Amino acid sequence: MKDKYWLMGPVYDALSFVFAGNSILRCKCSMLTPENLKPGDKVLFAGIGHGKEAIYAAEQGADVTVVDLSKAMLDKFKQGLDKTNKDLKINIVHSDIMKVEAFGKYDMVVANFFLNVFDESFMAEVLSHLIKLGKEDAFIVVGDFAIPEGNVLARFAKRMYWYLAIGIFWITTGAALHPVYDYRGHMTRQGLNVIDKKHSTVLGINAYTAFLGKKTPSS
Ligand SMILES: C[S@@+](CC[C@H](N)C(=O)[O-])C[C@H]1O[C@@H](n2cnc3c(N)ncnc32)[C@H](O)[C@@H]1O
Repeated sequence: MKDKYWLMGPVYDALSFVFAGNSILRCKCSMLTPENLKPGDKVLFAGIGHGKEAIYAAEQGADVTVVDLSKAMLDKFKQGLDKTNKDLKINIVHSDIMKVEAFGKYDMVVANFFLNVFDESFMAEVLSHLIKLGKEDAFIVVGDFAIPEGNVLARFAKRMYWYLAIGIFWITTGAALHPVYDYRGHMTRQGLNVIDKKHSTVLGINAYTAFLGKKTPSS
Protein backbone atom coordinates (compact mmCIF):
# COMPACT_ATOMS: atom_id res chain seq x y z
CA MET A 1 0.00 0.00 0.00
CA LYS A 2 1.28 3.47 -0.87
CA ASP A 3 2.54 5.53 2.07
CA LYS A 4 0.05 8.42 2.33
CA TYR A 5 2.64 10.43 4.25
CA TRP A 6 5.45 10.06 1.68
CA LEU A 7 5.35 13.83 1.07
CA MET A 8 4.49 15.02 4.59
CA GLY A 9 6.62 12.45 6.44
CA PRO A 10 10.00 14.12 5.95
CA VAL A 11 8.78 17.65 6.75
CA TYR A 12 5.97 17.06 9.27
CA ASP A 13 7.61 18.38 12.43
CA ALA A 14 9.24 21.33 10.64
CA LEU A 15 5.82 22.28 9.26
CA SER A 16 4.19 21.99 12.67
CA PHE A 17 6.92 24.26 14.12
CA VAL A 18 6.22 26.87 11.42
CA PHE A 19 2.52 26.57 12.18
CA ALA A 20 2.69 26.79 15.96
CA GLY A 21 6.24 27.07 17.29
CA ASN A 22 6.65 24.74 20.28
CA SER A 23 2.98 24.87 21.18
CA ILE A 24 2.07 21.56 19.52
CA LEU A 25 4.93 19.77 21.25
CA ARG A 26 3.90 21.34 24.58
CA CYS A 27 0.37 19.98 24.04
CA LYS A 28 1.71 16.52 23.20
CA CYS A 29 3.84 16.37 26.36
CA SER A 30 1.38 18.10 28.67
CA MET A 31 -0.11 14.94 30.22
CA LEU A 32 3.23 13.13 30.53
CA THR A 33 3.72 14.35 34.09
CA PRO A 34 5.07 12.43 37.10
CA GLU A 35 1.48 12.15 38.47
CA ASN A 36 0.29 10.35 35.32
CA LEU A 37 3.42 8.56 34.16
CA LYS A 38 5.60 6.39 36.37
CA PRO A 39 8.89 4.71 35.45
CA GLY A 40 8.13 1.24 34.09
CA ASP A 41 4.63 2.20 32.88
CA LYS A 42 3.70 0.67 29.54
CA VAL A 43 2.72 3.49 27.19
CA LEU A 44 1.37 3.15 23.65
CA PHE A 45 1.52 6.07 21.22
CA ALA A 46 -0.87 5.62 18.28
CA GLY A 47 0.06 7.29 14.97
CA ILE A 48 3.27 8.56 16.50
CA GLY A 49 4.72 10.51 13.56
CA HIS A 50 8.13 12.00 14.44
CA GLY A 51 7.34 11.29 18.08
CA LYS A 52 9.46 13.56 20.26
CA GLU A 53 6.91 13.03 23.05
CA ALA A 54 7.43 9.25 22.95
CA ILE A 55 11.18 9.79 23.33
CA TYR A 56 10.43 12.13 26.24
CA ALA A 57 8.23 9.45 27.88
CA ALA A 58 10.97 6.84 27.47
CA GLU A 59 13.47 9.27 29.01
CA GLN A 60 11.15 9.41 32.06
CA GLY A 61 11.56 5.62 32.35
CA ALA A 62 8.39 4.49 30.55
CA ASP A 63 8.31 1.29 28.55
CA VAL A 64 7.18 2.78 25.24
CA THR A 65 5.55 1.30 22.14
CA VAL A 66 4.99 3.50 19.10
CA VAL A 67 2.74 2.53 16.19
CA ASP A 68 2.49 4.18 12.80
CA LEU A 69 1.29 3.12 9.38
CA SER A 70 3.74 5.38 7.57
CA LYS A 71 7.31 4.30 6.92
CA ALA A 72 8.28 7.89 6.10
CA MET A 73 7.05 8.99 9.54
CA LEU A 74 8.75 6.12 11.33
CA ASP A 75 12.04 6.81 9.50
CA LYS A 76 11.98 10.31 10.98
CA PHE A 77 11.10 8.86 14.38
CA LYS A 78 14.11 6.53 14.21
CA GLN A 79 16.41 9.41 13.19
CA GLY A 80 15.25 11.40 16.22
CA LEU A 81 15.78 8.39 18.46
CA ASP A 82 19.30 7.78 17.12
CA LYS A 83 20.20 11.41 17.80
CA THR A 84 19.53 10.96 21.52
CA ASN A 85 22.42 8.45 21.78
CA LYS A 86 20.52 6.90 24.68
CA ASP A 87 19.54 3.30 25.21
CA LEU A 88 15.80 3.92 25.50
CA LYS A 89 13.12 1.26 25.83
CA ILE A 90 11.03 1.86 22.69
CA ASN A 91 9.30 -0.79 20.63
CA ILE A 92 8.62 0.48 17.09
CA VAL A 93 5.66 -1.08 15.28
CA HIS A 94 4.97 -0.37 11.60
CA SER A 95 1.27 -1.19 11.41
CA ASP A 96 -2.30 -0.05 11.14
CA ILE A 97 -3.32 0.62 14.76
CA MET A 98 -6.53 -1.38 14.19
CA LYS A 99 -4.36 -4.48 13.70
CA VAL A 100 -2.64 -4.04 17.07
CA GLU A 101 -4.44 -6.44 19.40
CA ALA A 102 -2.49 -6.32 22.65
CA PHE A 103 -5.73 -5.68 24.55
CA GLY A 104 -5.53 -4.69 28.23
CA LYS A 105 -1.76 -4.23 28.06
CA TYR A 106 -1.05 -0.52 28.48
CA ASP A 107 -1.06 1.86 31.47
CA MET A 108 -1.46 4.79 29.11
CA VAL A 109 -2.59 5.06 25.50
CA VAL A 110 -1.85 8.33 23.72
CA ALA A 111 -3.48 9.71 20.56
CA ASN A 112 -1.92 13.06 19.70
CA PHE A 113 -3.18 14.78 16.54
CA PHE A 114 -4.05 11.28 15.34
CA LEU A 115 -7.82 10.86 15.61
CA ASN A 116 -8.35 13.92 13.41
CA VAL A 117 -7.22 12.04 10.31
CA PHE A 118 -10.40 9.89 10.30
CA ASP A 119 -14.02 10.68 9.55
CA GLU A 120 -16.09 10.94 12.72
CA SER A 121 -17.70 7.51 12.77
CA PHE A 122 -14.43 5.69 12.12
CA MET A 123 -12.66 7.98 14.58
CA ALA A 124 -15.07 6.76 17.27
CA GLU A 125 -14.20 3.15 16.35
CA VAL A 126 -10.48 3.92 16.56
CA LEU A 127 -10.97 5.57 19.96
CA SER A 128 -12.89 2.52 21.17
CA HIS A 129 -10.03 0.29 19.95
CA LEU A 130 -7.45 2.44 21.77
CA ILE A 131 -9.48 2.22 24.98
CA LYS A 132 -9.50 -1.60 24.70
CA LEU A 133 -5.70 -1.59 24.42
CA GLY A 134 -5.48 0.03 27.88
CA LYS A 135 -5.49 -1.83 31.19
CA GLU A 136 -8.65 -1.65 33.35
CA ASP A 137 -7.57 1.62 34.97
CA ALA A 138 -5.52 3.02 32.07
CA PHE A 139 -5.14 6.64 31.16
CA ILE A 140 -6.26 7.55 27.64
CA VAL A 141 -4.78 10.81 26.36
CA VAL A 142 -6.13 12.75 23.38
CA GLY A 143 -4.31 15.88 22.25
CA ASP A 144 -5.50 17.93 19.28
CA PHE A 145 -6.78 21.28 18.00
CA ALA A 146 -8.98 23.08 20.51
CA ILE A 147 -12.70 23.43 19.84
CA PRO A 148 -13.19 26.98 18.46
CA GLU A 149 -14.49 29.09 21.37
CA GLY A 150 -14.83 32.78 22.27
CA ASN A 151 -16.59 35.60 20.42
CA VAL A 152 -17.64 35.41 16.76
CA LEU A 153 -14.28 36.73 15.51
CA ALA A 154 -12.25 34.40 17.73
CA ARG A 155 -14.31 31.40 16.62
CA PHE A 156 -13.95 32.40 12.98
CA ALA A 157 -10.15 32.83 13.29
CA LYS A 158 -9.82 29.47 15.07
CA ARG A 159 -11.93 27.72 12.42
CA MET A 160 -9.77 29.19 9.66
CA TYR A 161 -6.64 28.03 11.51
CA TRP A 162 -8.06 24.51 11.76
CA TYR A 163 -9.27 24.35 8.16
CA LEU A 164 -5.89 25.57 6.91
CA ALA A 165 -4.21 22.69 8.75
CA ILE A 166 -6.71 19.96 7.88
CA GLY A 167 -6.93 21.29 4.31
CA ILE A 168 -3.18 20.78 3.86
CA PHE A 169 -3.51 17.21 5.17
CA TRP A 170 -6.64 16.54 3.14
CA ILE A 171 -4.77 17.48 -0.05
CA THR A 172 -1.46 15.80 0.76
CA THR A 173 -2.51 12.69 2.71
CA GLY A 174 -6.21 12.17 2.06
CA ALA A 175 -7.17 12.92 5.68
CA ALA A 176 -10.89 13.45 6.29
CA LEU A 177 -12.15 17.03 6.03
CA HIS A 178 -14.33 17.90 9.03
CA PRO A 179 -14.82 20.40 11.89
CA VAL A 180 -12.76 20.03 15.06
CA TYR A 181 -14.13 17.01 16.93
CA ASP A 182 -15.56 17.19 20.42
CA TYR A 183 -13.09 14.69 21.84
CA ARG A 184 -14.25 15.24 25.41
CA GLY A 185 -17.79 14.27 24.36
CA HIS A 186 -16.58 11.18 22.52
CA MET A 187 -14.38 10.11 25.44
CA THR A 188 -17.22 10.55 27.93
CA ARG A 189 -19.71 8.68 25.72
CA GLN A 190 -17.26 5.80 25.53
CA GLY A 191 -17.22 5.55 29.32
CA LEU A 192 -14.02 7.42 30.11
CA ASN A 193 -13.84 9.70 33.10
CA VAL A 194 -12.20 12.87 31.74
CA ILE A 195 -10.14 14.02 34.72
CA ASP A 196 -7.94 16.72 33.26
CA LYS A 197 -7.73 19.14 30.36
CA LYS A 198 -4.75 21.31 29.43
CA HIS A 199 -4.59 24.06 26.83
CA SER A 200 -1.49 25.09 24.89
CA THR A 201 -1.49 28.58 23.47
CA VAL A 202 -0.32 30.27 20.28
CA LEU A 203 0.02 34.06 20.65
CA GLY A 204 -1.94 33.86 23.89
CA ILE A 205 -4.86 31.98 22.30
CA ASN A 206 -5.88 28.46 23.37
CA ALA A 207 -5.05 26.63 20.17
CA TYR A 208 -4.58 23.02 21.32
CA THR A 209 -6.12 20.91 24.04
CA ALA A 210 -5.02 17.68 25.69
CA PHE A 211 -7.61 15.59 27.53
CA LEU A 212 -6.73 12.99 30.13
CA GLY A 213 -9.31 10.22 30.37
CA LYS A 214 -9.34 7.35 32.85
CA LYS A 215 -10.93 4.02 32.10
CA THR A 216 -13.88 3.04 34.26
CA PRO A 217 -15.70 -0.32 34.47
CA SER A 218 -18.12 0.96 31.76
CA SER A 219 -15.43 1.84 29.22
C1 LIG B 1 -1.48 14.02 11.66
S1 LIG B 1 -0.24 12.85 11.90
C2 LIG B 1 0.13 13.04 13.64
C3 LIG B 1 1.49 12.53 14.01
C4 LIG B 1 1.85 12.68 15.48
N1 LIG B 1 0.96 11.96 16.36
C5 LIG B 1 1.94 14.12 15.89
O1 LIG B 1 1.20 14.53 16.79
O2 LIG B 1 2.77 14.83 15.35
C6 LIG B 1 -1.14 11.33 11.88
C7 LIG B 1 -0.25 10.11 11.98
O3 LIG B 1 -1.08 8.96 12.08
C8 LIG B 1 -0.55 7.94 11.25
N2 LIG B 1 -1.65 7.05 10.89
C9 LIG B 1 -2.73 7.33 10.10
N3 LIG B 1 -3.56 6.28 10.05
C10 LIG B 1 -3.02 5.31 10.83
C11 LIG B 1 -3.42 4.01 11.21
N4 LIG B 1 -4.56 3.47 10.76
N5 LIG B 1 -2.62 3.31 12.04
C12 LIG B 1 -1.48 3.84 12.52
N6 LIG B 1 -1.05 5.07 12.19
C13 LIG B 1 -1.80 5.81 11.36
C14 LIG B 1 0.06 8.69 10.07
O4 LIG B 1 0.98 7.91 9.38
C15 LIG B 1 0.67 9.89 10.79
O5 LIG B 1 1.96 9.62 11.23
